[in-house]
Amino acid sequence: MSAPNKSYDPVEVSALQPDALDAARDEALAAIAAAADLDALKQARLAHAGDRSPLALANREIGALPPQGRAEAGKRIGAARGAVSKALKERQAELEAERDQRVLVEESVDVTLPWDRAPRGARHPLTTLQERMVDVFVSMGFEVAEGPEVEAEWFNFDALNFKPDHPARSMQDTFFVESEETGLVLRTHTSPMQIRSLLARELPVYVVGPGRTYRTDELDATHAPVFHQLEGLAVDEGLTMADLRGAIDAFVAGMFGEGLTVRMRPSYFPFTEPSAEVDMRCFVCRGASAEPGGEPCRTCGSEGWIEIGGCGMVNPRVLTACGVDAGRYSGWAFGLGVERTLMFRHGVEDMHDMVEGDLRFTLPFGTEI
Ligand code: DAH
Repeated sequence: MSAPNKSYDPVEVSALQPDALDAARDEALAAIAAAADLDALKQARLAHAGDRSPLALANREIGALPPQGRAEAGKRIGAARGAVSKALKERQAELEAERDQRVLVEESVDVTLPWDRAPRGARHPLTTLQERMVDVFVSMGFEVAEGPEVEAEWFNFDALNFKPDHPARSMQDTFFVESEETGLVLRTHTSPMQIRSLLARELPVYVVGPGRTYRTDELDATHAPVFHQLEGLAVDEGLTMADLRGAIDAFVAGMFGEGLTVRMRPSYFPFTEPSAEVDMRCFVCRGASAEPGGEPCRTCGSEGWIEIGGCGMVNPRVLTACGVDAGRYSGWAFGLGVERTLMFRHGVEDMHDMVEGDLRFTLPFGTEI
């Protein structure tokens, strides 16, 4: 018989009593059976089979027993732990199978569903047309300029020679940002880009500025509160109206083909002097509809001409406001309507089609890159 174990402690070793072991095992088995998912099972494993579980603690007590009791106690603990780990393994397998089954159902993909429910979009014809218009001028050596859509009144009106009480100010029904005192407007035209270009660039200046513009118009077949313009500006030594005419001729040829006459009618804009409205020969009837006995033409309304925009020689006051020596430099400018161009170039009759975002309208244009 070996000497009594000095560290024997009857209280601690009570964990090794058969009743206590059975109770710990039964509790473990109950917790394992009750674990409803893998997370709960993980908790049960920690509590009943982990390092600090009652069975693990009991196992550590074996060394405190007198040697003759160790084998017996070891067997009992081994059986209890074996039962627990078997139960854990089985429950784990069950819960994994359940999870896999659920995932199969929840994450299943029905490959027979239609795949084209979200049809591919297309670039809007206003965008592609605007790019095409810009390209014609870029090919003549113009650069592209851009400006903000929320614009200072000074750029939108004052620097362009609109006097504070100038009727032309109300001619362009303006959206003010917050109140009129802020001095901020949604630009009513792309012409402020003339001022920005002259202030920012070295002379000579040859720029086109495409962009969105705003006026307080109701949306109807021919008006929209948001629309697009293409502004052009050339300022150099010795520029004349003949150069302006040449540039517009080249634009019309580039967009509609050769041989269409351009005409200018006197008009008024505060920032150009003289000013003109520009018309081009109708590219469909080439003027024939306006001749006696001619077939009616829908594109030009049998006018024979199509109005494409405004233009003129830059008013010397505008040059002076931008610090340009108006004695030495002269310039010309034009503004073309992009929506208008889309309407007559592509036979779009209603402005609503351009703003409603219906793919049935956009897609046929979408092949144009
Ligand atoms: N800004 C004018 C408008 O929106 C269009 C215009 C006319 C622009 C003549 C120009 C120009 O550059 O020279 O009605």
